[in-house]
Amino acid sequence: MTAWTRSTCKRTLMKGCGDTSMNVFITGISSGIGAALAEVLVVRGHAVWGIARREAPMQQLAARLKSPLLRFSVADMRNEHEIRRVAVTMRDDGFAPDAVVLNAGCYEPDVKEGVYLPDAAAQVWQTNLTGSLSVLAVLLPGMCARGAGQWVAVSSLAAFRPDPCSSAYPASKAALAMTFRSLRLQFEDSGLLFKTVYLGPVATDVIPRYRGAKHPPHVVSAEQAAQAIARALASSRAEFYFPRLLSSVYRAMLWIPDRFFDRLVRGMRR
Ligand SMILES: NC(=O)c1ccc[n+]([C@@H]2O[C@H](COP(=O)([O-])OP(=O)(O)OC[C@H]3O[C@@H](n4cnc5c(N)ncnc54)[C@H](OP(=O)(O)O)[C@@H]3O)[C@@H](O)[C@H]2O)c1
Repeated sequence: MTAWTRSTCKRTLMKGCGDTSMNVFITGISSGIGAALAEVLVVRGHAVWGIARREAPMQQLAARLKSPLLRFSVADMRNEHEIRRVAVTMRDDGFAPDAVVLNAGCYEPDVKEGVYLPDAAAQVWQTNLTGSLSVLAVLLPGMCARGAGQWVAVSSLAAFRPDPCSSAYPASKAALAMTFRSLRLQFEDSGLLFKTVYLGPVATDVIPRYRGAKHPPHVVSAEQAAQAIARALASSRAEFYFPRLLSSVYRAMLWIPDRFFDRLVRGMRR
């Protein structure tokens, strides 16, 4: 790594430490972890630009925070034209992202009663992978030109194991994480950072049975997951696992064959 790159990386990290405010672009701030992350960052004095398809919950978040630091656009990230439109709006508003968090995602069962549902699988791939990579394609050139910035991919512990109900979800999360590992190598000397956060179960709409209910101890809240992503933004590490203990046990059990592991955790599934 050259001296120039080292100093650029340091500048990028300093911006994440909370001493300097950052401009953070977040996908999926209308609910769950993305909404909680937007709140955590705005409260700490960072400027946030978020996107999602549902306008009403983003308006409610803005009304609750009452801060000019939060701005948002309605956009479906599966449509690259919509991402380009948002990029133009941000540029016209003088918002150049120092960090991008690719948080938006969805889970859809794509195998039901022995029938494979390709449309459900496509929706998951288009949101979790190709939509996220469209955001990357649109916003990366600006960051490259500035020579500093960071990207955070929100992956899942599900990336390490197959799921009997959704073939696309774990595969899309594994593909996103592997894409980031490649980008890390490709942009090693550019001053740009590519980080991946692997989350365990979080009580959001993605797990319907924990919606609004008291959740078991291995399931964390959206606020706790958001704090973990905020720590990732402030760190120089490339890979994060949260919650730590659960992730360590989970990864230590990867030698167990899939079908035995599936029987073990069947009662804990969504
Ligand atoms: N909850 C968990 O247990 C868990 C565990 C590991 C990883 N994760 C990951 O954490 C991330 C956040 O999920 P969450 O649990 O917070 O779920 P969530 O509450 O359902 O939030 C998903 C967010 O993504 C947005 N989104 C979905 N499709 C979109 C699209 N096509 N264009 C723009 N925005 C879109 C949604 O907004 P709109 O519907 O308004 O568009 C929403 O704001 C996901 O990537 C998920 O895979 C979650």
